[in-house]
Amino acid sequence: MTQINSKIGIHKIRLSSVDSTNNFAAKLINQGLGSHGSVILAENQTNGRGQMQSEWQSETAQNILSSFIFEFSTVDSQNLFDVNNLVSIVLLEFLQLHSLESQIKWPNDILVGKKKIAGILVENKFLGSQLTHSIVGIGLNVNQMSFPNLDTATSMQLETSESYSIESLWISLIDTFRKWEGFLETETKRGYLKNIYKNNLFGKDESRSFMIDNEIVNGTIRGVDANGRLALELEGKMHYFQNKQLAFL
Ligand code: BTN
Repeated sequence: MTQINSKIGIHKIRLSSVDSTNNFAAKLINQGLGSHGSVILAENQTNGRGQMQSEWQSETAQNILSSFIFEFSTVDSQNLFDVNNLVSIVLLEFLQLHSLESQIKWPNDILVGKKKIAGILVENKFLGSQLTHSIVGIGLNVNQMSFPNLDTATSMQLETSESYSIESLWISLIDTFRKWEGFLETETKRGYLKNIYKNNLFGKDESRSFMIDNEIVNGTIRGVDANGRLALELEGKMHYFQNKQLAFL
């Protein structure tokens, strides 16, 4: 099923240190030097960025810090979240290939058990209303053994007691992207991705607590809508939330 003619990973850039691989990817695009499938890997980031203006910290050369540049012609502002579906599924399958079962904590955290092993930062570039590029940044914890002040993080080595070659894992991640990239092409395939995403959501169909508007509420995750908003059942009625409107407790 791997796309023999895939462009993903043909143009690989390895850096020892950079502010953020996502910033580097954005600069490449602006200079006309980055196109579909260009991939960047850094050993260290001086300004690693996470979702909602958070920082992404990582010990030098212990983890995958990587950005992928994509030009998906079948994605527009109406179905942007399909890119997030694809990337989350790629990570689930990649981890499964390396003997780890994981789940997606909406919108884009990848968990093993209850601990975060990977984070995804998708940044989209538009020309007018037309999506031109998606920069997909992935921080995957591989060999790091401790996470100061973060008891909710884990790494591949912490989970399996094995030590990994970052380079080989990166190639394996690229291969997994090559396998799935065609799944954005048609509505049917995108529907298939949505289903896999939904079925692997952490906490789905379980009653749990959330913080919404400074109040603790009990609700049940049922899925996500076309815009990627979380569908939460509260007192028998469905409500839809964006990332900044709600926190998991
Ligand atoms: C999150 O969970 O908040 C998303 C974290 C994304 C981190 C990666 S590391 C490579 C890429 N470069 C960045 O600055 N961020 C992403």
